[in-house]
Amino acid sequence: MIDITVCIGSTCHVKGSKQVLEQLKNLISLNRLAGKVNLHGTFCLGNCQQGVSVTIDGEVYSVHPDTVNEFFTKEVLSKVRK
Ligand code: FES
Repeated sequence: MIDITVCIGSTCHVKGSKQVLEQLKNLISLNRLAGKVNLHGTFCLGNCQQGVSVTIDGEVYSVHPDTVNEFFTKEVLSKVRK
């Protein structure tokens, strides 16, 4: 099980954290990963400049609504399939 958190702090919210969260939720369901990925929101991760901040097992990544697909394929699928 991998743990993904999306920052829903105010700066990341303005940068589209809600869309990022929704898109990740859809991608997890499309790829039938509900039992393998735990997705939830979190407060400010101290990475506001680079937001939207997303963590995978504690490691911080910067994701934008336009780069969610790429992030999911590159970072999430690769870890789930290990
Ligand atoms: S508001 Fe998201 S890292 Fe600060």
